[in-house]
Amino acid sequence: MMLIIGSSGKLGRQLEKAFPEALAPKHEELDVKDRGEVESYIKKFRPHTIIHAAALTNVRQCEIDKKSTWDTNVVGTENLVGACASVVPNCYFVYMSTACVFYGDRGDYIETDIPNPKNFYSFTKLLGEFIVKKLSNHLIIRTNFVERGEWPYEKAFIDRFGTYLFADDLTLAIKEVIGKKLAGVVHVAGDKKFSMFELAKLTTPNVKPMTMKEADLPLTQDMTLRSIRIKPYKLTI
Ligand SMILES: NC(=O)c1ccc[n+]([C@@H]2O[C@H](COP(=O)([O-])OP(=O)(O)OC[C@H]3O[C@@H](n4cnc5c(N)ncnc54)[C@H](OP(=O)(O)O)[C@@H]3O)[C@@H](O)[C@H]2O)c1
Repeated sequence: MMLIIGSSGKLGRQLEKAFPEALAPKHEELDVKDRGEVESYIKKFRPHTIIHAAALTNVRQCEIDKKSTWDTNVVGTENLVGACASVVPNCYFVYMSTACVFYGDRGDYIETDIPNPKNFYSFTKLLGEFIVKKLSNHLIIRTNFVERGEWPYEKAFIDRFGTYLFADDLTLAIKEVIGKKLAGVVHVAGDKKFSMFELAKLTTPNVKPMTMKEADLPLTQDMTLRSIRIKPYKLTI
């Protein structure tokens, strides 16, 4: 049985659609921060595959509330990995990580480049990677994506870049890499570099431009990824 954690999130909703047979508990049903709850859930359902897509992801909020961010992103991942290691040690553990583990000053990062996170969110995601590496059967997917549809903000950055995919494109890519049982670290990247503003304009032509200076946050500027293992994926319009 497959288990999707974080199924109410932007990616999780797409994953749940793509894997209708999977167990997809909501946060209220399974809180990754609760070690006991995680252990009994894993004992009860003994998943053969887990896609871990639950995290606190708002960079500003993560800077403000480091305790909740730590408990969810680091301790939560430890709880899941610990339970897997003791109950289902051969479980295929797929961890959703981010291009933001890199510093972002040059972009075009490949799997073997050295991470150097710029903010607390990315720091906790990188720690999560190392926790997951304790399991023999793991896959760490680094990516950047947004939800398809109307841009959720009034403005978008003209000076922040990524090889973005829409969450549904990414889900198809995840299906493919999981199907191939890839292991280790892989970059699932779009085939084109976009600024966030260019990306936002695809769905929301009247979105307004802004610069990173306005946000006053330690954001990763150039999140472009490349893979030396797999092909790039298409952002479908
Ligand atoms: N969005 C991006 O650009 C991006 C890029 C690269 C990687 N990622 C990674 O991809 C994954 C999914 O991102 P996303 O954008 O879909 O995130 P999201 O929309 O913020 O969703 C996060 C999910 O995690 C759940 N969650 C939070 N705390 C939890 C807890 N203690 N126990 C159980 N579930 C909890 C949330 O449930 P509630 O809302 O009900 O609390 C929600 O379902 C994350 O691991 C993220 O770090 C995201």
